[in-house]
Amino acid sequence: MPSVYVETYGCQMNLADTELMLGHLSGHGYYRTDTPETADVILLNTCAIREHAEARVLGRLAELAGHKRRRPDLRLGVTGCMAQHLRARLAERAPYVDLLVGPDGYRRLPELLAAERGERDPYVGLRLDPAETYADLVAAREPGVRAWVTVMRGCDRFCTFCIVPYVRGRERSLPGPALVEEVRRLAALGTREIVFLGQTVNAYHDGGWDFAELLRRTAEVPGIARLRFTSPHPSDMSPRLIDAIADCPIVAPQLHLPVQSGSDRVLARMGRDYTVAAYEALVARLRQRRPGIALTTDVIVGFPGEDDTDFAATEALMHRIRYDAAFLFKYSPREGTRAFRWGDPVAADEKARRLQRLIALQESISAEINRALVGDEVEVLVEGPARRPAGWMAGRSPAMKTVVFAGPATPGELVRVRVETSTSHSLTGLALRG
Ligand code: 5AD
Ligand code: SF4
Repeated sequence: MPSVYVETYGCQMNLADTELMLGHLSGHGYYRTDTPETADVILLNTCAIREHAEARVLGRLAELAGHKRRRPDLRLGVTGCMAQHLRARLAERAPYVDLLVGPDGYRRLPELLAAERGERDPYVGLRLDPAETYADLVAAREPGVRAWVTVMRGCDRFCTFCIVPYVRGRERSLPGPALVEEVRRLAALGTREIVFLGQTVNAYHDGGWDFAELLRRTAEVPGIARLRFTSPHPSDMSPRLIDAIADCPIVAPQLHLPVQSGSDRVLARMGRDYTVAAYEALVARLRQRRPGIALTTDVIVGFPGEDDTDFAATEALMHRIRYDAAFLFKYSPREGTRAFRWGDPVAADEKARRLQRLIALQESISAEINRALVGDEVEVLVEGPARRPAGWMAGRSPAMKTVVFAGPATPGELVRVRVETSTSHSLTGLALRG
């Protein structure tokens, strides 16, 4: 039986796609291996969101070229967003790559892998297919208390900085009842937490079901303790969805709500479709309807035209909102996007300075928020042994914070923990029994 080794780069959607590919390939006689040295097939499931992600893959491909030289029968493939984005450059920079397969081509992997490679060209599966949802394929999921379930694919928003709509194609949703069935199956296998995934997950719609309906239906599945989703777009946070978040206790009190910038001028140029005031009104509503809800975000610094005043507005917004955590990025021009033609006018050292300022600001806010939790009890969904100290266990709070605690516990169990110490990234405490 041939073996396949997959390395995954980028977001949670890519990890879920890797599980999908592995499930599909196992149905065609492949088994998974964790060692590239002996694998018959090596796939890099790649990301194109920033230049850095692509540079890492190009470096890794150069390393893997050695395997290919030693074992000419090895099949080396690049899948995912970067295969779609950099088709020509990949063929030129890494001509030894046998296979380029984009996010809508995974169904063809077994067929492409079985074919003899032609003289010059790698096999390609790069046609975007707006109807492809892989709804009928069975993912090979990593066992664990948490499972990621893709509910929609693609994106129609075309934010001016973002490559996703070009490499993942148009928005499409999976059938709602089948998704609920899938969650039922996962619950029967011991899954306690479900994370719904989609590039703009709250744009989900299937027949009469919107995302709020999908959440409500899933919340009824017995055995599931927590339900999360990522990433929503602020403009698709409908009143019905806010109601569902407020009404369903198993929908975790935590939301990743990418803001990107705190300046209206920059938001307009980014094509984000909301103002700072609208975003803050949304946050206020969420906090009113679901008290204590933890918020995280994405911010880009150094977008073309972002000046000191714009940046100061972003800092001020972060001070006002006080996110639990934030993913902070330097703008990276992506060929093919609308913003690409505006160049990259903010100097590299200025971008670095802005990024450092936001990192320091967020670190201090996260540390303060977590410090205020010391003495509180939190309910922890136990995942497994902590990396350290030896003998301790680790899990996540409802807000998705990592909690390390002393005391016996079993993965999948909900344990009450009294928080004793905190950092900006995690909480430490003691399990309370009885
Ligand atoms: N440059 C920097 N960051 C980007 N993101 C998306 N595109 C770019 C880009 N060209 C960030 C956004 C998005 C997150 C997943 O990645 O903040 O929310
Ligand atoms: Fe990219 Fe914007 Fe779509 Fe998010 S909503 S994937 S940032 S285009």
